Amino acid sequence: MSWSKEFIELDKAVHDRASFDCGEEELNQFIRTQAAKHMNAGISRTMVLPASNPLPNKKTPICAFYSIAPSSISRETLPESRAKKLPKYPVPVFLLAQLAVHQEFHGEGLGKICLIKALEYLWEINAHMRAYAIVVDCLTESAERFYAKYGFEVLCQHNGRTRMFISMKTVEQLFS
Ligand SMILES: CC(C)(COP(=O)(O)OP(=O)(O)OC[C@H]1O[C@@H](n2cnc3c(N)ncnc32)[C@H](O)[C@@H]1OP(=O)(O)O)[C@@H](O)C(=O)NCCC(=O)NCCS
Repeated sequence: MSWSKEFIELDKAVHDRASFDCGEEELNQFIRTQAAKHMNAGISRTMVLPASNPLPNKKTPICAFYSIAPSSISRETLPESRAKKLPKYPVPVFLLAQLAVHQEFHGEGLGKICLIKALEYLWEINAHMRAYAIVVDCLTESAERFYAKYGFEVLCQHNGRTRMFISMKTVEQLFS
């Protein structure tokens, strides 16, 4: 299996969600059963990187995906030096709700590509509707190490997960 060039919106009639396996059951279940429902409900968008060739069932395997949604954080969760520059309202952010790579491709640079594509996409949205940062809730310590590698900093604990963030000012340095 090899991956195609472009991330496109998940289409359950086209993409084979059942064969996706990143090694984390929660993320597998998300892409298989929840991602399309959440898009229909208007609460998040999932972009997938399809394989270059379809399966015998005519559907295309998913090599990697990310899901994004608008969100907000409490100003008090930010470091004091950042919080004091912001008004006393919830702070708008983008949530990188899910990101995963099929385990067949782990260690081949696709996680990095997927993260850069997600940041680029959110950077483009930010040109129209501003957000302060991108946040991610890490499922595992391994995921934390992955995001830390790309400049994400620990923000707080959230629903039993470590929440990390990267400011839009930092993302700007990558893409402007
Ligand atoms: C985390 C995940 C997306 C990484 O994908 P990947 O394709 O294996 O990662 P890449 O090959 O692009 O690695 C890019 C860099 O990150 C590093 N890296 C990858 N996974 C890492 C990890 N778990 N911890 C620390 N560093 C990691 C690689 O060593 C590489 O560094 P290098 O460029 O210096 O060599 C993938 O392992 C995955 O899907 N895991 C299960 C789902 C998950 O935990 N998602 C996180 C959201 S909660």
